[in-house]
Amino acid sequence: MNHDEQIGDVVNFYDTHPINEQQILEKLERDKVDPNNVTEDVLQNYDQDHFGGVAANDVLASLAGIDRDCHVLDVCCGMGGPSRYLAHNYGCRVTGIDLAESRIAGATRLTGMTGLGDRVEFRNANALEMPFADGTFDVVISQEAFCHIPDKDTLVAQCARVVKPGGRIAFTDILVTDSTCQSTRARLQREMTFQELASAVSYKTALEREDCSLLEHHDVSDKWRVILADRLVMYRNLKDQTVDRFGEAHFARWDSAYSFFVGLYETGELGGGRFLARRNTD
Ligand SMILES: C[S@@+](CC[C@H](N)C(=O)[O-])C[C@H]1O[C@@H](n2cnc3c(N)ncnc32)[C@H](O)[C@@H]1O
Repeated sequence: MNHDEQIGDVVNFYDTHPINEQQILEKLERDKVDPNNVTEDVLQNYDQDHFGGVAANDVLASLAGIDRDCHVLDVCCGMGGPSRYLAHNYGCRVTGIDLAESRIAGATRLTGMTGLGDRVEFRNANALEMPFADGTFDVVISQEAFCHIPDKDTLVAQCARVVKPGGRIAFTDILVTDSTCQSTRARLQREMTFQELASAVSYKTALEREDCSLLEHHDVSDKWRVILADRLVMYRNLKDQTVDRFGEAHFARWDSAYSFFVGLYETGELGGGRFLARRNTD
């Protein structure tokens, strides 16, 4: 598969994802929340698309030392849940980028609803070609997205380029383990659009090559095993909405792919890591 095909697959995966703007708006309506009067304190419970909800945002924020003086880049921001949360709760400015235009359009509309548009902005961009000058950001963050990006060396080089010297890069990602076999990687690429999976060691090497120091690495595999079992139940509870929107066959494909993915945490064929790196100063 060439690079354009990989990108097309990821965009299609997120254009037909069970968690989407429409699904969020319908859930708000079912919960009797007026979308014209929704605050970030409420919306934050509906719009996070990573493992561990808003608590995971706080862990990353604390790791990276995010405060009101920071300009944060949220790489692969999805519908902007973490970006809005960080701006609202830490007072920082956040720029989010995402490959999928539908995600950026949704992120922009949801942000408008919460009135956070003065501190949070979004751009449709590929993380492998970030449209920012060198040293623009104090902090770069990302959650559960780098797995979709081929060419981790370029990705890490881009993150290191756009962060200021002394700035921090804090992220979580799905990782291979010693027991991840080739057929598992191939199926995850086909069904979950995980274009390339890294390990803790490969991230350390890539970061050091870009003049960054890996300050902390936490193995979150055990935590994610529990969270992912709950997420599978959550996606199954969204069956009716997913079938209405994308059809029965799409739901069946999703369910098969996601249960395979979740099962890999039971067998130890996949893991997870949380990383903090700092770009070295001269
Ligand atoms: C699991 S979602 C995570 C969203 C968000 N980080 C959150 O926690 O709510 C992964 C996101 O990565 C985006 N993505 C995948 N490959 C990308 C790339 N090369 N450049 C930018 N975004 C990308 C997808 O479009 C998707 O929105």
